[in-house]
Amino acid sequence: MSQLEKIDKNQLPLHIAIIMDGNGRWAQEKGEDRLYGHYQGVESVRNVAEGCAELGIRFLTLYAFSTENWDRPEPEVTGLMELLAETIRQEVSTLTRNNIKLQLIGNIAMLPEYARLGLEEAVELTRNNSGMTLIIALSYSSRWELLQAVKTIANDVQKGNLLPEQINEDTLRRHLATNAFPDPELMIRTSGECRISNFLLYQLAYAELYFTDTRWPDFGKEHLYEAILNFQQRQRRFGKTGEQIQRESATDMH
Ligand code: IPE
Ligand code: IPE
Ligand code: MG
Repeated sequence: MSQLEKIDKNQLPLHIAIIMDGNGRWAQEKGEDRLYGHYQGVESVRNVAEGCAELGIRFLTLYAFSTENWDRPEPEVTGLMELLAETIRQEVSTLTRNNIKLQLIGNIAMLPEYARLGLEEAVELTRNNSGMTLIIALSYSSRWELLQAVKTIANDVQKGNLLPEQINEDTLRRHLATNAFPDPELMIRTSGECRISNFLLYQLAYAELYFTDTRWPDFGKEHLYEAILNFQQRQRRFGKTGEQIQRESATDMH
């Protein structure tokens, strides 16, 4: 039986988030420039997005560029921006053909105009697609996002539109960049690093984390299936006991 056949289609994560890491090292290990790794990484994005859409995953978030990545050497930053702009230009028709809706989270205003305009156009063109939602985290960091939320909430309070005692979890959620999406249930990070690197700190509170040594340019559909199968073998307890969860799933079946 192939890995794909082993996946239980009734127990799919609704939302998968991926930290696409290891492009630079993948290229350097081959004696190539880091940018070559980023170019190869685009092929993995295509495969994984296609794999998720075929399975029926509803939301896929890809961490493409962090707030901290702006501090990389200028040629790498520019190379990444150009790659991004070029990829979006090429892929927008494929997104529409596959009924995929593109969304962005992050401080998009910081992007160079040639990249920003193409991305915003792609978001607009795919707005009415009703299949998978592909969310690209760009110039994104969780601390940036939380700061924005806190500032907007403080403003609402100052203007008298909101009382401090009215602030609850829902208020915070509505002010996050991810307000239109459910929390990720599975978070995958490639390349062997076991950290979150400022990605969806609030939203990943109860996500299942999956770390693999595979570098992002080597990550394909089979690796995705492997991660989903691993996810499906876990018991998600949300603070309860294992016995409670078993009892609940037994009653759910009736
Ligand atoms: C991930 O690969 C892509 C981005 C952060 C843009 P890296 O560029 O971080 O590759 P490594 O981790 O240095 O190998
Ligand atoms: C995280 O990878 C950001 C993205 C994948 C876009 P990094 O390579 O920037 O993370 P660190 O620096 O190893 O934590
Ligand atoms: Mg890295």
